[in-house]
Amino acid sequence: MDPLLQNIETYKKEIESFIAGDARSAEEFRIKYLGTKGIVKSLMGEMKNIPADNRKEFGRLMNDLKIFAETKYESFRETISSQHQFAGDQMDFSLPGDPATPGSRHPITLMRNRIVSIFQRLGFSVADGPEIEDDWHNFTALNISENHPARDMQDTFYIQHQMEGHTDWLLRTHTSNVQIREMEKGKLPIRIICPGRVYRNETISARSHCFFHQVEGLYVDEHVSFADLKQTLYFFAQEMYGKEIKPRFRPSYFPFTEPSAEMDITCFICGGKGCRICKQTGWVEILGCGMVHPKVLENCGIDSNKYTGFAFGMGVERPAMLLYGVNDIRLFSENDVRFLKQFTSMA
Ligand code: PHE
Repeated sequence: MDPLLQNIETYKKEIESFIAGDARSAEEFRIKYLGTKGIVKSLMGEMKNIPADNRKEFGRLMNDLKIFAETKYESFRETISSQHQFAGDQMDFSLPGDPATPGSRHPITLMRNRIVSIFQRLGFSVADGPEIEDDWHNFTALNISENHPARDMQDTFYIQHQMEGHTDWLLRTHTSNVQIREMEKGKLPIRIICPGRVYRNETISARSHCFFHQVEGLYVDEHVSFADLKQTLYFFAQEMYGKEIKPRFRPSYFPFTEPSAEMDITCFICGGKGCRICKQTGWVEILGCGMVHPKVLENCGIDSNKYTGFAFGMGVERPAMLLYGVNDIRLFSENDVRFLKQFTSMA
């Protein structure tokens, strides 16, 4: 075969395997094969050197080659322009992507969820209520009368503002207000858990803050006894702090429960031997509890001869500090990312 014809064959193969992924290489292709000094043109210039017998054949092959190169060039342009429409001109698909930094739940949320989920497994459901509360739901209905020293015990933030026709508004000092609101609805039995933020006018330090979080619980039904309270809270403490802990109930006083108690458990750090966390006593206090005072039931329109109930309340910051090893309560509300991101891996 004429070496020129063979050349055409080679160029055709070359064009076939050419890949142009961007506008620049497509342009390189155009210049190389279809430009004024390109291969197609210069091969055409060879026509005069072809023996007359072969000219027709050469012309046909050259025409094919030209159309082949033009079609290929068009197809490059189409692919490239559809990529641009899709991604915008500035997009470079070869650059590495932005790393996705995982967020994290707040340690207080983690601890609250942990507490709540234990009670949910026992059939308690979550109830919610307002943080801006009236005197009745935060104090009076809970058997804390006007001059009761408990009002000083829980240094209250009062709100000097008239709303809904009265002025006795305050920031709730505990989530017991939710329990009153649930009991007022009059649907029995009640088995609720009330997580939420509460406010007390205390000096801010490493150990205490003017707002913190609580989880309180309430169970009201016929025949609810102190034994139910003990067993429920013992189960909770074992789930939360470990199967090996032992409980202890100390008599205490709350105006809204009678009898009242505080629950201690054997120290989950030293196992009861005595350490810095339990102040060498071997015991840590974890919650307050008691049987709902009949007066509180009556205040909410519940027949205290028929129904009894137990209630309990605990802070969220303290277990979070003990179990996560946090030594300053203020860290929880400062939102320093260096602190918060340490909880990224926790569910
Ligand atoms: N309301 C109490 C507090 O804030 C806790 C508590 C709730 C105690 C229920 C007993 C029963 O300190």
